[in-house]
Amino acid sequence: MDNKKDIIILGIESSCDDTSAAVIKNGVLLSNIIASQKVHEAYGGVVPELASRAHQQNIVPVVDQALKQAGIDRNELSAVAFTRGPGLLGSLLVGTSFAKGFSLAAGIPMVEVNHLQGHVLAHYIQEKEVEFNPPKFPHLSLLVSGGNSQIILVKDHLEMEVIGQTIDDAAGEAFDKCAKVMGMPYPGGPLIDRLAKEGNPNAFEFSKPRIKDLDYSFSGLKTSFLYFLRDQLKENENFIEENQADLCASLQKTIIDILLNKLIKAAKQTGIKEITVGGGVSANSGLQNALRAEAQKRHWNMYIPKFAFTMDNAAMIAITGYFKYQKKLFTGQDAVPFARMSIND
Ligand code: KG4
Repeated sequence: MDNKKDIIILGIESSCDDTSAAVIKNGVLLSNIIASQKVHEAYGGVVPELASRAHQQNIVPVVDQALKQAGIDRNELSAVAFTRGPGLLGSLLVGTSFAKGFSLAAGIPMVEVNHLQGHVLAHYIQEKEVEFNPPKFPHLSLLVSGGNSQIILVKDHLEMEVIGQTIDDAAGEAFDKCAKVMGMPYPGGPLIDRLAKEGNPNAFEFSKPRIKDLDYSFSGLKTSFLYFLRDQLKENENFIEENQADLCASLQKTIIDILLNKLIKAAKQTGIKEITVGGGVSANSGLQNALRAEAQKRHWNMYIPKFAFTMDNAAMIAITGYFKYQKKLFTGQDAVPFARMSIND
Protein backbone atom coordinates (compact mmCIF):
# COMPACT_ATOMS: atom_id res chain seq x y z
CA MET A 1 0.00 0.00 0.00
CA ASP A 2 1.53 3.38 -0.88
CA ASN A 3 -0.14 4.61 2.30
CA LYS A 4 3.07 3.46 4.00
CA LYS A 5 4.88 6.47 2.53
CA ASP A 6 2.54 8.83 4.34
CA ILE A 7 3.61 10.12 7.73
CA ILE A 8 0.53 10.33 9.94
CA ILE A 9 1.02 11.57 13.50
CA LEU A 10 -1.45 11.52 16.36
CA GLY A 11 -0.60 14.34 18.79
CA ILE A 12 -1.60 14.41 22.46
CA GLU A 13 -1.46 17.52 24.69
CA SER A 14 -2.26 17.47 28.41
CA SER A 15 0.27 19.80 30.05
CA CYS A 16 -2.14 22.11 31.88
CA ASP A 17 -5.93 22.44 31.71
CA ASP A 18 -6.68 21.61 28.06
CA THR A 19 -7.00 18.02 26.86
CA SER A 20 -6.28 17.95 23.15
CA ALA A 21 -5.67 15.45 20.35
CA ALA A 22 -4.81 16.17 16.72
CA VAL A 23 -3.94 14.29 13.55
CA ILE A 24 -1.41 15.57 11.03
CA LYS A 25 -0.77 13.81 7.72
CA ASN A 26 2.41 14.76 5.85
CA GLY A 27 2.43 18.09 7.68
CA VAL A 28 -1.23 18.89 6.90
CA LEU A 29 -3.70 19.22 9.77
CA LEU A 30 -6.65 16.83 9.58
CA SER A 31 -8.15 17.42 13.04
CA ASN A 32 -7.47 19.33 16.25
CA ILE A 33 -9.87 18.65 19.13
CA ILE A 34 -9.55 20.67 22.35
CA ALA A 35 -11.53 20.02 25.54
CA SER A 36 -11.00 23.00 27.87
CA GLN A 37 -11.63 22.42 31.56
CA LYS A 38 -14.19 24.75 33.10
CA VAL A 39 -13.88 23.19 36.56
CA HIS A 40 -11.08 25.60 37.61
CA GLU A 41 -13.03 28.83 37.13
CA ALA A 42 -14.54 28.66 40.60
CA TYR A 43 -11.08 28.45 42.22
CA GLY A 44 -9.32 31.45 40.66
CA GLY A 45 -6.61 29.29 39.05
CA VAL A 46 -5.84 25.81 37.78
CA VAL A 47 -6.17 23.14 40.52
CA PRO A 48 -3.62 20.43 39.57
CA GLU A 49 -5.52 17.47 41.05
CA LEU A 50 -8.77 18.47 39.33
CA ALA A 51 -6.88 19.02 36.07
CA SER A 52 -5.44 15.50 35.98
CA ARG A 53 -8.82 13.97 36.84
CA ALA A 54 -10.48 15.92 34.02
CA HIS A 55 -7.72 14.81 31.60
CA GLN A 56 -8.45 11.19 32.54
CA GLN A 57 -12.12 11.67 31.72
CA ASN A 58 -11.48 13.57 28.49
CA ILE A 59 -8.55 11.84 26.86
CA VAL A 60 -10.27 8.78 25.35
CA PRO A 61 -13.24 10.65 23.80
CA VAL A 62 -10.97 13.48 22.60
CA VAL A 63 -8.58 11.07 20.82
CA ASP A 64 -11.53 9.15 19.43
CA GLN A 65 -13.02 12.34 18.01
CA ALA A 66 -9.70 13.49 16.56
CA LEU A 67 -9.24 10.19 14.68
CA LYS A 68 -12.87 10.18 13.49
CA GLN A 69 -12.77 13.76 12.26
CA ALA A 70 -9.49 13.07 10.46
CA GLY A 71 -10.95 9.93 8.87
CA ILE A 72 -7.89 8.02 10.03
CA ASP A 73 -7.88 4.50 11.42
CA ARG A 74 -5.56 3.61 14.29
CA ASN A 75 -3.56 1.20 12.09
CA GLU A 76 -2.78 3.96 9.55
CA LEU A 77 -0.85 6.02 12.14
CA SER A 78 2.95 6.28 11.91
CA ALA A 79 3.53 7.44 15.51
CA VAL A 80 1.96 8.99 18.58
CA ALA A 81 3.50 12.28 19.76
CA PHE A 82 2.86 13.51 23.29
CA THR A 83 3.81 16.47 25.49
CA ARG A 84 6.51 15.35 27.91
CA GLY A 85 6.76 18.76 29.61
CA PRO A 86 6.96 21.39 30.87
CA GLY A 87 3.67 21.55 32.73
CA LEU A 88 1.75 20.13 35.67
CA LEU A 89 3.16 16.73 36.52
CA GLY A 90 -0.20 15.05 37.20
CA SER A 91 -1.63 16.41 33.93
CA LEU A 92 1.43 15.39 31.91
CA LEU A 93 1.28 11.90 33.43
CA VAL A 94 -2.16 11.32 31.91
CA GLY A 95 -1.01 12.16 28.36
CA THR A 96 2.29 10.30 28.75
CA SER A 97 0.63 7.15 30.10
CA PHE A 98 -2.03 7.28 27.41
CA ALA A 99 0.63 7.62 24.68
CA LYS A 100 2.53 4.61 26.07
CA GLY A 101 -0.56 2.42 26.09
CA PHE A 102 -1.58 3.62 22.63
CA SER A 103 1.89 3.02 21.23
CA LEU A 104 1.93 -0.55 22.56
CA ALA A 105 -1.61 -1.34 21.41
CA ALA A 106 -1.14 0.12 17.91
CA GLY A 107 2.45 -1.12 17.52
CA ILE A 108 3.75 2.34 16.57
CA PRO A 109 6.63 4.41 17.96
CA MET A 110 6.26 7.25 20.45
CA VAL A 111 7.73 10.71 19.98
CA GLU A 112 8.12 13.00 22.98
CA VAL A 113 7.53 16.70 22.44
CA ASN A 114 8.67 19.75 24.37
CA HIS A 115 5.57 21.93 24.81
CA LEU A 116 7.61 25.12 24.30
CA GLN A 117 8.97 23.88 20.96
CA GLY A 118 5.37 23.07 20.07
CA HIS A 119 4.30 26.70 20.57
CA VAL A 120 7.19 27.89 18.38
CA LEU A 121 6.46 25.34 15.64
CA ALA A 122 2.70 26.04 15.56
CA HIS A 123 3.55 28.31 12.61
CA TYR A 124 4.51 25.25 10.55
CA ILE A 125 1.07 23.63 10.76
CA GLN A 126 -0.31 23.53 7.25
CA GLU A 127 -4.09 23.68 6.97
CA LYS A 128 -6.04 22.27 4.07
CA GLU A 129 -6.94 24.87 1.45
CA VAL A 130 -5.18 27.68 3.30
CA GLU A 131 -2.20 29.40 1.65
CA PHE A 132 0.91 28.22 3.43
CA ASN A 133 3.92 30.52 3.89
CA PRO A 134 5.76 29.31 6.99
CA PRO A 135 8.48 31.43 8.60
CA LYS A 136 11.93 31.05 7.11
CA PHE A 137 15.01 30.27 9.21
CA PRO A 138 16.50 31.80 11.20
CA HIS A 139 13.64 33.60 12.87
CA LEU A 140 12.95 35.19 16.24
CA SER A 141 10.06 33.85 18.28
CA LEU A 142 8.41 35.82 21.07
CA LEU A 143 6.93 33.11 23.29
CA VAL A 144 4.48 34.59 25.76
CA SER A 145 2.22 32.47 27.92
CA GLY A 146 1.11 31.93 31.50
CA GLY A 147 4.42 30.25 32.31
CA ASN A 148 6.90 31.80 29.88
CA SER A 149 8.14 35.01 28.37
CA GLN A 150 11.07 34.31 26.11
CA ILE A 151 12.74 35.49 22.96
CA ILE A 152 13.99 32.47 21.04
CA LEU A 153 16.40 32.34 18.14
CA VAL A 154 14.98 29.58 15.94
CA LYS A 155 17.71 28.24 13.67
CA ASP A 156 15.82 25.23 12.36
CA HIS A 157 12.74 23.20 13.24
CA LEU A 158 14.47 21.51 16.13
CA GLU A 159 17.35 23.89 16.78
CA MET A 160 16.46 26.75 19.10
CA GLU A 161 18.30 29.05 21.49
CA VAL A 162 16.78 31.21 24.22
CA ILE A 163 18.34 34.68 23.92
CA GLY A 164 16.09 36.46 26.42
CA GLN A 165 13.69 35.38 29.14
CA THR A 166 11.86 36.54 32.22
CA ILE A 167 13.79 36.57 35.46
CA ASP A 168 10.57 36.31 37.51
CA ASP A 169 6.91 36.35 36.37
CA ALA A 170 5.69 35.62 32.85
CA ALA A 171 3.63 38.14 30.84
CA GLY A 172 0.51 35.98 31.27
CA GLU A 173 1.04 36.00 35.03
CA ALA A 174 1.23 39.80 34.97
CA PHE A 175 -2.15 39.89 33.22
CA ASP A 176 -3.69 37.29 35.54
CA LYS A 177 -2.29 38.63 38.83
CA CYS A 178 -3.24 42.25 38.07
CA ALA A 179 -6.71 41.06 37.03
CA LYS A 180 -7.01 39.27 40.36
CA VAL A 181 -6.09 42.48 42.21
CA MET A 182 -8.97 44.17 40.34
CA GLY A 183 -11.31 41.38 41.50
CA MET A 184 -11.61 39.69 38.11
CA PRO A 185 -11.92 35.91 37.60
CA TYR A 186 -9.11 33.65 36.32
CA PRO A 187 -7.69 33.79 33.70
CA GLY A 188 -7.73 37.58 33.62
CA GLY A 189 -5.79 38.05 30.37
CA PRO A 190 -8.70 37.67 27.92
CA LEU A 191 -10.93 39.86 30.10
CA ILE A 192 -8.34 42.66 30.31
CA ASP A 193 -7.97 42.42 26.53
CA ARG A 194 -11.73 42.92 26.08
CA LEU A 195 -12.07 45.79 28.58
CA ALA A 196 -8.91 47.52 27.30
CA LYS A 197 -10.64 48.14 23.97
CA GLU A 198 -12.96 50.65 25.70
CA GLY A 199 -10.24 52.40 27.73
CA ASN A 200 -7.51 55.01 27.38
CA PRO A 201 -4.05 53.36 27.31
CA ASN A 202 -2.43 56.62 28.46
CA ALA A 203 -4.74 57.21 31.45
CA PHE A 204 -2.27 55.80 34.00
CA GLU A 205 1.42 55.12 34.03
CA PHE A 206 3.01 52.08 35.65
CA SER A 207 6.66 51.36 36.26
CA LYS A 208 8.67 49.55 33.61
CA PRO A 209 11.61 47.33 34.54
CA ARG A 210 15.23 48.14 33.83
CA ILE A 211 16.63 44.72 33.13
CA LYS A 212 19.83 44.07 31.23
CA ASP A 213 20.23 42.48 27.81
CA LEU A 214 17.15 40.80 26.34
CA ASP A 215 15.65 39.60 29.62
CA TYR A 216 12.23 40.45 30.98
CA SER A 217 10.78 41.11 34.42
CA PHE A 218 7.11 41.51 35.29
CA SER A 219 6.97 41.20 39.07
CA GLY A 220 7.74 44.92 39.62
CA LEU A 221 4.82 45.91 37.41
CA LYS A 222 2.49 43.74 39.46
CA THR A 223 3.70 45.40 42.69
CA SER A 224 3.48 48.91 41.24
CA PHE A 225 -0.07 48.15 40.03
CA LEU A 226 -1.03 46.83 43.47
CA TYR A 227 0.37 49.88 45.35
CA PHE A 228 -1.21 52.28 42.88
CA LEU A 229 -4.63 50.73 43.42
CA ARG A 230 -4.15 50.64 47.20
CA ASP A 231 -3.41 54.39 47.24
CA GLN A 232 -6.30 55.25 44.93
CA LEU A 233 -8.75 53.12 46.90
CA LYS A 234 -7.92 55.12 50.05
CA GLU A 235 -9.28 58.21 48.27
CA ASN A 236 -12.14 56.57 46.44
CA GLU A 237 -13.43 53.10 47.27
CA ASN A 238 -15.09 52.85 43.84
CA PHE A 239 -11.86 53.65 41.98
CA ILE A 240 -11.56 50.25 40.30
CA GLU A 241 -15.18 50.06 39.08
CA GLU A 242 -15.10 53.67 37.86
CA ASN A 243 -11.80 53.26 35.99
CA GLN A 244 -11.81 49.60 34.96
CA ALA A 245 -11.43 50.13 31.21
CA ASP A 246 -8.68 52.75 31.60
CA LEU A 247 -6.84 50.56 34.12
CA CYS A 248 -6.99 47.59 31.74
CA ALA A 249 -5.92 49.64 28.72
CA SER A 250 -3.00 51.26 30.60
CA LEU A 251 -1.83 47.98 32.11
CA GLN A 252 -2.05 46.19 28.76
CA LYS A 253 -0.11 48.99 27.04
CA THR A 254 2.64 48.73 29.67
CA ILE A 255 2.96 44.95 29.20
CA ILE A 256 3.03 45.34 25.40
CA ASP A 257 5.67 48.11 25.60
CA ILE A 258 7.87 45.91 27.81
CA LEU A 259 7.51 42.93 25.42
CA LEU A 260 8.14 44.96 22.28
CA ASN A 261 11.08 46.90 23.65
CA LYS A 262 13.21 43.74 24.00
CA LEU A 263 11.89 42.15 20.83
CA ILE A 264 12.94 45.22 18.83
CA LYS A 265 16.34 45.11 20.55
CA ALA A 266 16.70 41.41 19.66
CA ALA A 267 15.76 42.05 16.03
CA LYS A 268 18.32 44.86 15.81
CA GLN A 269 21.06 42.81 17.47
CA THR A 270 20.57 39.77 15.26
CA GLY A 271 19.52 41.57 12.08
CA ILE A 272 16.62 39.11 11.77
CA LYS A 273 13.38 40.40 10.25
CA GLU A 274 11.47 37.13 10.30
CA ILE A 275 9.46 37.34 13.55
CA THR A 276 6.90 34.96 15.07
CA VAL A 277 4.82 35.12 18.23
CA GLY A 278 3.22 32.27 20.16
CA GLY A 279 1.67 31.16 23.45
CA GLY A 280 -1.58 32.14 25.19
CA VAL A 281 -0.76 35.87 25.46
CA SER A 282 -0.23 36.05 21.67
CA ALA A 283 -4.06 36.01 21.45
CA ASN A 284 -4.04 39.54 22.92
CA SER A 285 -5.48 41.91 20.35
CA GLY A 286 -3.47 44.89 21.58
CA LEU A 287 -0.23 42.91 21.30
CA GLN A 288 -1.16 41.68 17.82
CA ASN A 289 -1.93 45.23 16.63
CA ALA A 290 1.30 46.57 18.12
CA LEU A 291 3.33 43.77 16.49
CA ARG A 292 1.70 44.42 13.11
CA ALA A 293 2.41 48.15 13.38
CA GLU A 294 6.01 47.51 14.39
CA ALA A 295 6.41 44.99 11.55
CA GLN A 296 5.24 47.55 9.03
CA LYS A 297 7.57 50.20 10.39
CA ARG A 298 10.59 47.90 10.56
CA HIS A 299 9.91 45.76 7.48
CA TRP A 300 9.55 42.57 9.50
CA ASN A 301 7.73 39.52 8.18
CA MET A 302 5.39 39.06 11.12
CA TYR A 303 3.67 35.72 11.81
CA ILE A 304 0.72 35.74 14.20
CA PRO A 305 -0.95 32.37 14.92
CA LYS A 306 -4.67 31.90 14.49
CA PHE A 307 -6.53 31.79 17.80
CA ALA A 308 -6.78 27.97 18.09
CA PHE A 309 -2.98 27.74 17.85
CA THR A 310 -2.28 30.44 20.47
CA MET A 311 -3.81 28.31 23.22
CA ASP A 312 -2.56 24.89 24.28
CA ASN A 313 -3.39 22.46 21.46
CA ALA A 314 -2.31 19.08 20.15
CA ALA A 315 -1.83 20.29 16.55
CA MET A 316 1.43 21.96 17.60
CA ILE A 317 2.48 18.75 19.37
CA ALA A 318 1.66 16.68 16.27
CA ILE A 319 3.63 18.99 13.93
CA THR A 320 6.66 18.92 16.24
CA GLY A 321 6.26 15.13 16.38
CA TYR A 322 6.19 15.09 12.58
CA PHE A 323 9.58 16.86 12.38
CA LYS A 324 11.06 14.57 15.05
CA TYR A 325 9.64 11.46 13.36
CA GLN A 326 11.49 12.38 10.17
CA LYS A 327 14.70 12.40 12.18
CA LYS A 328 13.71 9.10 13.86
CA LEU A 329 13.80 10.75 17.30
CA PHE A 330 11.71 8.15 19.12
CA THR A 331 11.09 7.66 22.85
CA GLY A 332 11.03 4.45 24.89
CA GLN A 333 8.38 3.13 27.27
CA ASP A 334 10.53 4.33 30.19
CA ALA A 335 9.81 8.01 29.39
CA VAL A 336 8.67 10.05 32.37
CA PRO A 337 7.14 13.54 32.20
CA PHE A 338 9.09 16.60 33.32
CA ALA A 339 7.42 19.52 35.10
CA ARG A 340 10.32 21.78 34.13
CA MET A 341 12.06 21.79 30.77
CA SER A 342 13.95 24.43 28.81
CA ILE A 343 13.44 24.88 25.09
CA ASN A 344 16.30 22.53 24.14
CA ASP A 345 15.43 19.63 26.47
O1 KG4 B 1 -0.12 29.25 26.64
P1 KG4 B 1 -1.23 29.24 27.62
O2 KG4 B 1 -2.59 28.82 27.11
O3 KG4 B 1 -0.90 28.29 28.82
C1 KG4 B 1 -0.08 28.47 29.89
O4 KG4 B 1 1.05 28.98 29.77
O5 KG4 B 1 -0.53 28.04 30.98
O6 KG4 B 1 -1.35 30.71 28.23
C2 KG4 B 1 -2.30 31.07 29.17
C3 KG4 B 1 -2.07 32.55 29.48
C4 KG4 B 1 -2.88 33.04 30.67
O7 KG4 B 1 -2.03 33.79 31.50
C5 KG4 B 1 -3.94 33.94 30.02
O8 KG4 B 1 -4.39 35.00 30.85
C6 KG4 B 1 -3.18 34.47 28.82
O9 KG4 B 1 -2.44 33.36 28.36
N1 KG4 B 1 -4.08 34.96 27.78
C7 KG4 B 1 -4.17 36.26 27.43
C8 KG4 B 1 -5.16 36.33 26.42
N2 KG4 B 1 -5.61 35.06 26.18
C9 KG4 B 1 -4.93 34.23 27.02
N3 KG4 B 1 -3.53 37.33 27.90
C10 KG4 B 1 -3.84 38.51 27.36
N4 KG4 B 1 -4.78 38.67 26.39
C11 KG4 B 1 -5.44 37.62 25.89
N5 KG4 B 1 -6.36 37.78 24.92
